Amino acid sequence: MMNILIYDTQEQVNKVGASIISNIILAKPDALLGLATGSTPIGIYKQLVDANKEGLISFKDVATYNLDEYVGIDGSHNQSYRHFMNENLFNHIDINIEKTHVPNGKAVDLEAECTRYDAEIDAAGQLDIQLLGLGHNGHIGFNEPADHLSAGTHIVELAQETRQANARFFTSIDEVPTQAITMGVATILKAKTVLLVVKGEDKADIVKEALRGPITTQCPASLLQLHPNLIVLLDSAAGSKL
Ligand code: GLP
Repeated sequence: MMNILIYDTQEQVNKVGASIISNIILAKPDALLGLATGSTPIGIYKQLVDANKEGLISFKDVATYNLDEYVGIDGSHNQSYRHFMNENLFNHIDINIEKTHVPNGKAVDLEAECTRYDAEIDAAGQLDIQLLGLGHNGHIGFNEPADHLSAGTHIVELAQETRQANARFFTSIDEVPTQAITMGVATILKAKTVLLVVKGEDKADIVKEALRGPITTQCPASLLQLHPNLIVLLDSAAGSKL
């Protein structure tokens, strides 16, 4: 079932997104959260930090699994997704950092790292929620449009478009890694709830394509239409073409 919620402001989107995640933690203090990076979830993370500071929720027993990481840079690099998560969430909440998981993009054996990451998620159990942003080309995590998508964690070549979009965080596009390690679409679809959050007019076309268009590997987010419990949070700009 797809539940699309459209709000006037990004602030409202952040509040609702954070309250959906908070409610999961309140009902299950050892919840398994699938988390995402990008600019979209930052406001949600801020709300969760505030709720934790106010004593409304605790992450003490929560475990997290991130969607993806760049290949070739390690967790201390200021553009790594590990660093992003520490800075935007983990360093400010009462989570046990040992329970936060991000694929290791610096692993010597990347194939082994993919297998290890899937095994780690499988051993933990079903993710209670998977938070997702949306790429301009319909990518989720780093599952780029392709003829075939992979089920489990795998290495991907980043689309030029994706590298360009993310170049704003690096000093130049040449520094943006060319590969990433990402959860696969089957792992994403296995989560109990999928929470897709999209903001901004520049994503209005791809939102429409992903949610109303045909289900195709050329728009990886369109596969989310198959999920039994998909919640989509949009600001009015991102939802303007639906
Ligand atoms: C990145 C990430 C995605 C993210 C997307 C959109 O490449 N790998 O997980 O959802 O791009 O990012 P933003 O939220 O900054 O638009």
